[in-house]
Amino acid sequence: MKIAVLTSGGDAPGMNAAIRAVVRAGTVYKHEIFGIKDGYAGLIKDDMIHLTSNSVSGMLSLGGTFLGTARSAEFLDENVRKVAAENLKNRGIDALIVIGGDGTYRGAMEFSRLGVKIIGLPGTIDNDIAGTDFTIGFSTAVETIVDAIDKLRDTSTSHQRCSIVETMGRRCGDLALFAGICGGAEFIITPENPMEKELMFKRLTEHKEKGRRHAIVVITEKILDPHALAEEITEKTGFASRATVLGYIQRGGSPCPEDRILGSRMGTYAVELLNDGIYGVCVGVRDSRMVHLPFANVVGQTRPKNELYKLVKKVS
Ligand code: F6P
Repeated sequence: MKIAVLTSGGDAPGMNAAIRAVVRAGTVYKHEIFGIKDGYAGLIKDDMIHLTSNSVSGMLSLGGTFLGTARSAEFLDENVRKVAAENLKNRGIDALIVIGGDGTYRGAMEFSRLGVKIIGLPGTIDNDIAGTDFTIGFSTAVETIVDAIDKLRDTSTSHQRCSIVETMGRRCGDLALFAGICGGAEFIITPENPMEKELMFKRLTEHKEKGRRHAIVVITEKILDPHALAEEITEKTGFASRATVLGYIQRGGSPCPEDRILGSRMGTYAVELLNDGIYGVCVGVRDSRMVHLPFANVVGQTRPKNELYKLVKKVS
């Protein structure tokens, strides 16, 4: 087969590991692999390169995506998707593997209606894709956030401050939840775990009175203005507070072992699904096993509330 691969949406550490696995596994099964540049934008422009085993040498430890990525508004247009399908057809490409988040999957689902054989791999730091326990890039981003929290705790303790740490996550609180637990946060505020403001003020006041020298509050982006919250905490609790928005730093860096393994497993599994004539599905990991589900069962679906929220009540 001729198989093309692309990365789309926000980049995530481990995407390169997944591309590499597609190429290396594809080569073992004697397929020809093409890398599409800059996501769906490159597909529309027919911007692709031939990938060999050598082209992906040294990619495993590299952050970002060497193919480039984009959020393509153009691809929402059916006529544009038809051009993209024609490009694949003209090159004799039999199947497409897309690596990205919910927007990427949505595009893939629409695209597959034109008869294109597609497999989706979950690549996003947000861990907000249904049908998988973990997405490629999430574990590395958690490590980055925990490292930041540890550093913020040092300076917070020195200055007797409360640090508000804003993480990414879009509408999913997993980054804040996992990193908050690992970083020993006093409060974790996410879309799934809304803030109980008065309780938070009361607890922080008690902390301060008991002589606690620091406090950490981790919050998912887009819920509120963290700087305004810091001012309010300072005013209401006497705990001088500062907010840190971690931003894009969370998407960078060399993938951690979990993401290298997840990317490698998922890339290989995608090729094996195509070998078996299975497509129109997205790959996931459930209870450590590779699984696949139709796009329609995953796109736009909300994941069940994480079990770890039970822990938050006990250890925070
Ligand atoms: O990759 C997902 C994500 O990191 C979200 O958490 C964040 O809201 C968004 O990307 C930011 O994306 P952009 O690069 O388009 O600003």
